[in-house]
Amino acid sequence: MSITVRPLSYALGAEIQGVDLARPLSNSEFDQIHRTFLDKGILLFRDQKITREQHIAFSRRFGELDDHASLPRDRHPDYPELLLVTNIPKANGKPSDSKYTGQQWHSDMSFTPVPSLGSLLRGITIPPVGGDTMFTNMYMAYDALSDGMKKLLEGLHGIHTGTRKVDDPNSEREKEQRQINPPIAQPVVRVHPETGRKALYIGDKVSCLVGMTVEESKPLIDYLVRHATRPQFVYRHQWKQDDIVFWDNRCTMHIALGDYPEGEIRHLERTTVRGTPSGYYLQ
Ligand code: SIN
Repeated sequence: MSITVRPLSYALGAEIQGVDLARPLSNSEFDQIHRTFLDKGILLFRDQKITREQHIAFSRRFGELDDHASLPRDRHPDYPELLLVTNIPKANGKPSDSKYTGQQWHSDMSFTPVPSLGSLLRGITIPPVGGDTMFTNMYMAYDALSDGMKKLLEGLHGIHTGTRKVDDPNSEREKEQRQINPPIAQPVVRVHPETGRKALYIGDKVSCLVGMTVEESKPLIDYLVRHATRPQFVYRHQWKQDDIVFWDNRCTMHIALGDYPEGEIRHLERTTVRGTPSGYYLQ
């Protein structure tokens, strides 16, 4: 069976048809998938009935996997390469730590010194309606800025934090996150190491710009996030069970909408491919 590629939206994304990720890929299949990944920013594979081991093995073809030490509460107890994105309560009945994971515009692991190359999220239990994820094309967002704004952003760094806006800042999780992941400065414009293209690197995890006050930075950060998430740059993914979505964190950002009925289960598992070192600590 040969691979076919179906675009998911004008801005980004492609569905790859004709591959079974339970089997090892040939080098030519892998090359075609890799080229499409670089070109489209997001890949969708439907109907992939694979095991955790197969999910990990496929992900490893793209690089070294993160062990999620920066998110210890969310990793799978037996598979550190897997991050749980689930609202299934813990064994002691307490709410899941990852119930609200991803519910702000972000690029994975931007709050660490090794931001992610890409993430592969597997849909295991999907609510009957909603639970969608939106993705945006950060090359397009950068290209659409005026020359004046591009010049202003040159050399600017944003301060990224591992905390989540949806959480109580005094919760144990948030205190722990502040300790494990001190604020880190990342360039506001990054050059993609494989395509050489410039992409905006911003999001809701950026609290401030280096060398500016929060008051000065906030209008610019808010503008850039609003600009980057204009509908024409966005693809909205409606999950089905056994979907694998693989996104390039170096030129896209995403948000989990949390748009599903209370009481429905949403359970996904993610591998995170490590990227190249980036950024610097402020303290
Ligand atoms: C994530 O940000 O990795 C999770 C996205 C989602 O749950 O849709």
